[in-house]
Amino acid sequence: MAINYSEKIPNNVDLAHDRTLQRALEHWQPHFLQWWHEMGPSDFERADVYLRTATSVDAKGWATYGAVKMPDYRWGIFLADQQPDRKIGFGDQMGQPAWQQVPGEHRSTLRRLIVTQGDTEPASVEQQRMLGHLCPSLYDLRNLFQINVEEGRHLWAMVYLLHAYFGRDGREEAEELLARHSGDADKPRILTTFNEPISDWLSLYCFTYFTDRDGKYQLKSFAESGFDPLSRTCRFMLTEEAHHMFVGETGIGRVVKRTLEVMKELGTDDPARIRAHGAVDLPLLQKYLNFWCSSSLDLFGSEISSNAAASFANGLKGRPDESQYEDHVLRDVSLKLDTPEGAQEVPMLNALNEVMRESYLKDCEIGLKRWNRAIERAGHEFRLTLPSSRFRRAIGSWVGLPVGPDGKLLPKDEYERRLYEWVPSPEDKAFVKSLMQKVVEPGKMAAWIAPPDRGINNLPIDYEYVHLA
Ligand SMILES: [Fe+2]
Ligand SMILES: [Fe+2]
Repeated sequence: MAINYSEKIPNNVDLAHDRTLQRALEHWQPHFLQWWHEMGPSDFERADVYLRTATSVDAKGWATYGAVKMPDYRWGIFLADQQPDRKIGFGDQMGQPAWQQVPGEHRSTLRRLIVTQGDTEPASVEQQRMLGHLCPSLYDLRNLFQINVEEGRHLWAMVYLLHAYFGRDGREEAEELLARHSGDADKPRILTTFNEPISDWLSLYCFTYFTDRDGKYQLKSFAESGFDPLSRTCRFMLTEEAHHMFVGETGIGRVVKRTLEVMKELGTDDPARIRAHGAVDLPLLQKYLNFWCSSSLDLFGSEISSNAAASFANGLKGRPDESQYEDHVLRDVSLKLDTPEGAQEVPMLNALNEVMRESYLKDCEIGLKRWNRAIERAGHEFRLTLPSSRFRRAIGSWVGLPVGPDGKLLPKDEYERRLYEWVPSPEDKAFVKSLMQKVVEPGKMAAWIAPPDRGINNLPIDYEYVHLA
């Protein structure tokens, strides 16, 4: 269905026919714009940015490109088309018609799931708000802003559900989504990873590679939900999300490419010399991968979780790509989990966070293979790896244990002594920060990163993707 842009709030949910809802959302809209003004990208409100805007939710119309000032971006409510006679595809009520309204008994759980997802969207915009001042190129600056406006729209997606289906509590939650702020001492964002500052572009690429990919897995599991409006909302969000991970994967790939050029030029793999030449040595990149991968793994929750079991059994949250599995009820199966106390047989329903985490890690491997191929082709032995999922756990059965990135338990003092071999030290961060010099001449790249293979929407790399006012 086409998106109606003639209304104050662009939408494809026929908002004009629900005046109460329309009024409530029109009341929230100025609060959102005020939030964007205060917490969105700092200082770029007058720049013309080459952004894509959705005009319909099908493959043809969801990406229309043009120069837009970010505050004029048309944030709105876009749901994937309804599938006629959709049935619940998993859990104890499998085969029943999907719900078009919130079942009373699942109301508070669904609200919590939607609020937790919704909270991450504006949080990431807040985390990234200063990055524009340090951009390695106009191409990258444009990608950052595209991600930022889309995360803003993802907030709209969740706020629509809260307003349309959760009455007064929903409206209150929608206000709270604008009141919490990333890193705020009194009112922080709900999840820890979304309170970590992102003050350099290497962290941004890692964040979009690992943390946006967590987002993809969460959205995929909600796309399976028996609550049909949530499923339809998330299905459309996934099309936007793919670009965010593209920015992460190609961003890290370009860092690797540039580093390999410098290594070749200097004829060395000595990190000190590579750094002196203004590039990111591969062991340093590995530390950033370790940090953001382990931090993002916590987002999946505890390995053993009765909440995850209930959400699945009740049809609220499925597994990503539920249809690839044979058993959709999971009442008679178990999974063997490695815990610090040894192997443990756990009912599959209770181990679903771990199932999700494992498929997420497999997805994360794809980029590493590509980067490692480039390193191998350049004739180097070094390989980038993912840290063990037991490393740096802040949640679950491995919480707080001194485990190295290889997954082995270490004496606590050794772990503490060696931690900065594995994650960025204050000196590493200061070095990366020192590389971040703003480059805004069309087609030019900062010295620590290679140009992309191609531009956006078939435009040349030296196109003026952001026209600074
Ligand atoms: Fe998002
Ligand atoms: Fe995202």
